[in-house]
Amino acid sequence: MPAITFAGAGVTYEGTTVLSPLDLELRERRIGIIGSNGSGKSTLVRMINGLVEPTEGTVLYDGTSPASDGRAVRRRVGFVFSDAESQIVMPRVADDVAFSLRRFKLPRAEVRARVEAVLERFGLADRAENSPHTLSGGEKQLLALAAVLVIEPDTVIADEPTTLLDLRNRRRIIRELDSLEQQLIVVTHDLEMLRGFDRVLCLNRGTLLYDGTPDAAIDTYLRLMDDPMDGEPL
Ligand SMILES: Nc1ncnc2c1ncn2[C@@H]1O[C@H](COP(=O)(O)OP(=O)(O)O)[C@@H](O)[C@H]1O
Ligand SMILES: [Mg+2]
Repeated sequence: MPAITFAGAGVTYEGTTVLSPLDLELRERRIGIIGSNGSGKSTLVRMINGLVEPTEGTVLYDGTSPASDGRAVRRRVGFVFSDAESQIVMPRVADDVAFSLRRFKLPRAEVRARVEAVLERFGLADRAENSPHTLSGGEKQLLALAAVLVIEPDTVIADEPTTLLDLRNRRRIIRELDSLEQQLIVVTHDLEMLRGFDRVLCLNRGTLLYDGTPDAAIDTYLRLMDDPMDGEPL
């Protein structure tokens, strides 16, 4: 698995520390990140693909700095957001998926083959010519996942991928994420999703409160949520 290294990496905006300096090496296959709203989860995962730059320390994705060589990192790291709608860039489903491949300069036939395969995999093949905006919420999230997997990334980061979905669609997305062979880093409030994960980090107010097994991380988180002082979001 790729090694993601945080060396004293932290983020402070105008005197407010959003993420205290962290030292971490992430090389497990399935890593979960939990914590209340505002605890710094998105900031942490966004540093991995260069969407956020550390204001101190360094982050390296398999030896490459996302801050200085974001393009190289983003060829290997796919990122799925909770709001699938915001990731739609093209007027047709197939083109939206193909758009992810533009920077790879692949032959047309290969682009077409890869797009068809991934749409097939997610049951979207018969929607290929439709507008992405006509898809249901669950289908839009599958499309977002398809647009990430078509680049054949080494790491998939999903930031609350199930938050806006109903139960059926949540379970579908969880199943799809579970079946990935790639390294997977998921920020989630779906604690059941973390069963069987290799490592779970629990953040609280911009600091790493727990780092270890899913069960112990979830215990830590639930205890925190029951604590009237510490459970308050920032
Ligand atoms: N660009 C920014 N400028 C200032 N504050 C920010 C910025 N981005 C995030 N924050 C703040 O940092 C904190 C952590 O945000 P975030 O990482 O999005 O938390 P989470 O994903 O756990 O909800 C929040 O209080 C948020 O308001
Ligand atoms: Mg977030």
